[in-house]
Amino acid sequence: MGFTISKAVIPAAGLGTRFLPATKAIPKEMLAVVDKPAIQYVVEEAVAAGLTDVLMITGRNKNALENHFDHVSELEETLRKKGDHEKLAKVNQSTDLADMHYVRQGDPLGLGHAVLRASMHVGREPFAVLLGDDIIDARDPLLSRMIEVQGKKNASVVALLEVPDNMTHLYGVATVEATDEDDVVKITGLVEKPPQGEAPSNLAIIGRYVLRPEVFDVLEKQAPGKGGEIQLTDALEKMAAADEWTGGVYGVVFRGRRYDTGDKLDYIKAIIQLASDREDLGEDLKAWILEFASGLEK
Ligand code: UTP
Repeated sequence: MGFTISKAVIPAAGLGTRFLPATKAIPKEMLAVVDKPAIQYVVEEAVAAGLTDVLMITGRNKNALENHFDHVSELEETLRKKGDHEKLAKVNQSTDLADMHYVRQGDPLGLGHAVLRASMHVGREPFAVLLGDDIIDARDPLLSRMIEVQGKKNASVVALLEVPDNMTHLYGVATVEATDEDDVVKITGLVEKPPQGEAPSNLAIIGRYVLRPEVFDVLEKQAPGKGGEIQLTDALEKMAAADEWTGGVYGVVFRGRRYDTGDKLDYIKAIIQLASDREDLGEDLKAWILEFASGLEK
């Protein structure tokens, strides 16, 4: 108890193979969702929850990520000379957002391996992990609630989403016990991507975690699991089973809007949903969608 969480770790070193060839030379986290790369939504979410120290775990295409959160003098100078303050503000939006740090993962050996690369920077304090391809709608705050639960329980906390039966095989799935809070469950077991029909529940882990530093001790010894990757889910399963020294693992059940931008169909839906709510685009887009949809029914 007693730690104020200030560090966010954002793993963005995956190969993004589902999005090839778009992700051949740029990370999938740089794909635009309306007019901002997915990763900027995620950093903005961390900052909104009070986490201003952001460590990004990057891979072979790290330059685009680093450049996005840095100054781009030529462009800024050109816009300044033109007096285009509106566009200048957009360029600078991502520059002064947070205190950004980067570490390379080397080989992409799995999400658990990526998180372990953060151990030097994080030290022995609780920290948040936000997956760079999951967007949580800013109107439905999740991370601040998870940080609150972490503080109260002095445990590790994952975000859970209720998914249909035919989707459980795509996620880490939890076995849970109820607590006295409606949106909080105690996790007693976890399984990564269970075969269809074998999931212990419909509660799937989505890309937000608030973890105690003991996760690093577990990850150091973690053998490769599903897909030959070092899985964060496997480390969390061990932490759930050893709650006397890890504090255990709790889940916050999220009932808000979430967009998985690592999946092609969900990525397209995310753009449409977020753009429909925008003041500058919403009205025209919705009118077009209605016209387009009526054409589909014919
Ligand atoms: P995913 O499995 O969704 O990412 O990992 P991926 O491997 O890039 O995607 P596909 O399946 O090939 O399209 C979830 C998150 O973990 C990160 C990814 O960048 C993503 O944010 N990750 C995954 C790493 O940082 N390192 C890894 O070794 C694996």
